Amino acid sequence: MKKLIAGNWKMNGDSQSAGSLARDISQGLKNTPSLQDNCDVLICPPFIYIHEVADNNLLVGAQDCSVHESGAYTGEVSAAMLENSGCSHVILGHSERRQFHEEKNTTVADKAKAAHVAGLVAIICVGETESEREAGCEEAVVGRQVIESLPDSATSQNTVIAYEPVWAIGTGKTASADDASKMHSFIRLKIKEKLADAENLRILYGGSMKPNNAKELLAMPDIDGGLIGGASLNAEQFLAIALAAPKI
Ligand code: PGA
Repeated sequence: MKKLIAGNWKMNGDSQSAGSLARDISQGLKNTPSLQDNCDVLICPPFIYIHEVADNNLLVGAQDCSVHESGAYTGEVSAAMLENSGCSHVILGHSERRQFHEEKNTTVADKAKAAHVAGLVAIICVGETESEREAGCEEAVVGRQVIESLPDSATSQNTVIAYEPVWAIGTGKTASADDASKMHSFIRLKIKEKLADAENLRILYGGSMKPNNAKELLAMPDIDGGLIGGASLNAEQFLAIALAAPKI
């Protein structure tokens, strides 16, 4: 399967730095045309910089969307608005939203459904906390998140799962390639409970993916790409991760 390398810029940058980062990534892709034979490259900036990314001919996604189609929901952005602004993807249920905005699996499923209706690919994030892993219940937690966050509208084409162990996000700690791969295989088994063609659904790894560990992680059988936070804010590092995708 062709890998997906997605950058999650989170709440960083300003219009100038967003524009120049997007230009540098776009230029880097042009300089290495073979890179896109092996992976699709996606950038997920803050809403307000979607145009800076789209204008540089990059695949662009958002970091959240509303469950609602339109109406009196101050501060919200609908999936249709994202699609209309050039987005093809939207990240949903990131652990930072689950933690700071109390997003539950059912909310994530409703948002994913709204994304599907608008024609967007939903990147649904799952992952256990450090204490859940220490207690040995990481599969129970992640399995439940997968089953409850996938809406009935999900297909292998309109949905991506991102496995991001919370203890690895922004910490410099990464799951070992073996641990990550074991969880990815487990996630695929869970998806099979809901989807006939689970084999074709991409499962990304996220959590301190960097140029020095990307090659090993991306070589694992059930790891179909990466969701990259910190390292996606640096064009050179982000492109180095994309270059680490195995040749197909
Ligand atoms: P990180 O973030 O690469 O900085 O760990 C990943 C993410 O939160 O998507």
